[in-house]
Amino acid sequence: MNTSHDISGAPEEALLQEFDHTIDAGQRVEPRDWMPDGYRKTLIRQIAQHAHSEIIGMQPEGNWLTRAPSLRRKAILMAKVQDEAGHGLYLYSAAETLGADRSDLTEKLIEGKQKYSSIFNYPTLTYADVGTIGWLVDGAAICNQVPLCRSSFGPYARAMIRVCKEESFHQRQGFELLTKMMRGTDEQRAMVQESVNRWWWPALMMFGPPDDESPNTEQSMKWGIKRHTNDELRQRFVDMSIPQAKALGVTFPDPDLKWNANRKSHDFGEPDWSEFLAVVKGNGTSNIERIANRRAAHEDGAWVREAAMAFAARDKKAAS
Ligand SMILES: [Fe+2]
Ligand SMILES: [Fe+2]
Repeated sequence: MNTSHDISGAPEEALLQEFDHTIDAGQRVEPRDWMPDGYRKTLIRQIAQHAHSEIIGMQPEGNWLTRAPSLRRKAILMAKVQDEAGHGLYLYSAAETLGADRSDLTEKLIEGKQKYSSIFNYPTLTYADVGTIGWLVDGAAICNQVPLCRSSFGPYARAMIRVCKEESFHQRQGFELLTKMMRGTDEQRAMVQESVNRWWWPALMMFGPPDDESPNTEQSMKWGIKRHTNDELRQRFVDMSIPQAKALGVTFPDPDLKWNANRKSHDFGEPDWSEFLAVVKGNGTSNIERIANRRAAHEDGAWVREAAMAFAARDKKAAS
């Protein structure tokens, strides 16, 4: 097969021109449209990594489901963790519209061949972490994901609209939990501050490495897959979080954090990028546990997949 032609027989150059025009006009690329291989591959990698993050992200908070302090807290946490499963499913479906195979993506995750957000390799040590994750981790996810609602790839953009609505509930439930704890005892306030101290820097690292060390950003921005650079989003998150921290009565563990009147933004310190790289490479506290749990869940679910396939095959036979 001549790969420089699609089934309609149009030469690749003309197809590329049409694709560029769609991107430049701010219109959406849909699954059946022609797209350059690099665009498809970049999107599959990004959407898969996002889907994996949603699914692995169920674990740190899932850890506290059986020990929630009240029925109300348990109901909220269960709803939140289930939402994350839903986000993973929308995203795997979006990746499938690009020709990816979901079981192949899962295989790559549990073989360590595809990444997920390094934030989920930190352990949840207290119930305050449930609140801090909602507030800061889901908060950072919202900063990252709101611009993706305008992603040039239609199915991804549409999935993000629904995901972002749910993420804002996640952030609010976290903030509400922390507010309640800050109005409680001295021990509860100390628990919140200790939790914020642990999560602040990892939350800043969620935006990825600094712009000058992020080689794919430029191309992704040209393609409309990415709308802002890592550093722009990190700055936005810092500026957004500071008044919220004041309202809560907590501080962030960064002596360099201060208002810069010239920039009309906050200056802040440099995250420890060597820690970031170590966690990305698999040496975080919880990397091994997260993947082992995911692998066990996948293996335990084999009978469900087999039953579903057998049912579908029987159905198909009956219909023919
Ligand atoms: Fe999510
Ligand atoms: Fe979330």
